[in-house]
Amino acid sequence: MNEHYDVLIRNASIVDGTGAARYRGDVGVNGDRIARIGDLHDASATTEIDAVGLVITPGFIDAHTHDDRLMLSGGDMAPKVSQGITTVIGGNCGISLAPMPRAIPNPVTPPLNLLDESGAWFRFTSFAEYLDALRAQPAATNCAMLVGHTTLRVATMDDLTQAASVAETAAMRDLVEEAMTAGAIGVSTGLFYESAIAAPTEEVIDICEPLHRHGGVYCTHMRDEGDDVIKSLTETFRIGREAKVPVVISHHKVVGVNNYGRASETLQFITDHMEKQAICLDCYPYPAASTILSAHRAVNATRVTVTWSKTLPQFAGRDLTDIMAELGGTMAEVIDRLTPAGAIYYMMDDADVQRILKFDQTMIGSDGLPHDDAPHPRLWGSFPRVLGHYGRGLGLFSLETAIHKMTGLTAKNFGLTGRGLVQEGAYADLTLLNPETVNEGATYIAPKTPAIGIDTVIVNGAVVWRYGKPSGARPGRVLRREPA
Ligand code: ZN
Ligand code: CU
Repeated sequence: MNEHYDVLIRNASIVDGTGAARYRGDVGVNGDRIARIGDLHDASATTEIDAVGLVITPGFIDAHTHDDRLMLSGGDMAPKVSQGITTVIGGNCGISLAPMPRAIPNPVTPPLNLLDESGAWFRFTSFAEYLDALRAQPAATNCAMLVGHTTLRVATMDDLTQAASVAETAAMRDLVEEAMTAGAIGVSTGLFYESAIAAPTEEVIDICEPLHRHGGVYCTHMRDEGDDVIKSLTETFRIGREAKVPVVISHHKVVGVNNYGRASETLQFITDHMEKQAICLDCYPYPAASTILSAHRAVNATRVTVTWSKTLPQFAGRDLTDIMAELGGTMAEVIDRLTPAGAIYYMMDDADVQRILKFDQTMIGSDGLPHDDAPHPRLWGSFPRVLGHYGRGLGLFSLETAIHKMTGLTAKNFGLTGRGLVQEGAYADLTLLNPETVNEGATYIAPKTPAIGIDTVIVNGAVVWRYGKPSGARPGRVLRREPA
């Protein structure tokens, strides 16, 4: 019998995304689906890929991104597909590009400016309009999108330092209803940020009311990831229970030198509550955080590297202590001279990062910021760093377990049916990698560097990354959540 496939990957070692041990096989793709897995040596194909020495895995699902605008302004998604990512979860940390039914303030309210400084991209008056734009001009990757609480606050409130009024809360709830009907997968918050910190727990519960009916999730950058992290976890779980939805704890970490070691405590607390309600979490694989430069963050870090400065750009890439020595003055004075600026803060215990990564239920998310001039290397390096540095290097987990944390587990938690597994009938989102060499290429000094050891990346049956560059194909789709 002489079968023919659109794409045939021969002699691969298959890591299927369930966590099961790898096995040998050929993979035949027709259209956007995996048609056959097995011994296909008699078959022919339009495109043949010899995968001797390589592992074939489900395309990675980035559980935490800020790619809302990148998909429209940089649709080849090079920072993502170069590391094997085929689907991104967007709209995190309370920040989504839509809906914006009225003019966005100028300058754009932080942290919404992480998506676009100019404000011009906040042009979608409804979530449906935004998703239509993604469908009309597809990106290389698939996406599943959250609607951001801070975006809703900016869209409906005049004073962000207050709790929302009854009328403002109702307006936000209506926008959530519209977004969920259009195809959003849930709501995100960034209660840590100034523009949302005044929101009481009840405001969040109220605006999340439509989620249960639509099968949505609640994702949160919690109010506090330091001294009060247990209090914030408690708040998060209450929101999940009262809104009757699964919660996702975004980029779980414990920050501040005086909290080093406390991941054991948070993971135990999370485990205890998992018996009573649906809880998921994601993590980026670095002991340093990245955001805007400010004095109150700098004092809690053991080391601060300035990534950019509007006023003194010559200091980009240098340590704050270094700059202080050169300029003279107190930390506060020097930060004042550098601001507006960005910084990388070493404020986590790597042993904590390892505990969280290793935790059974932890998904991998990059939390990359694609529009930073000198981005944190997690934008380009997160997934291969988990496989190379933490997996193969430190031996935290097997390749099979690491892949599960970036594929099968994530697809299940976000209800992405037919994704995250190498199985007959599943969508052909596939990554071919070299298990001996796969690793991050990006560093703090050279953050925009593609990963090592990612050979070929396929989205919905189309090659999007090969020979070290994007192919130009844009097969990405907008995915809906289909809870099990
Ligand atoms: Zn965040
Ligand atoms: Cu984030």
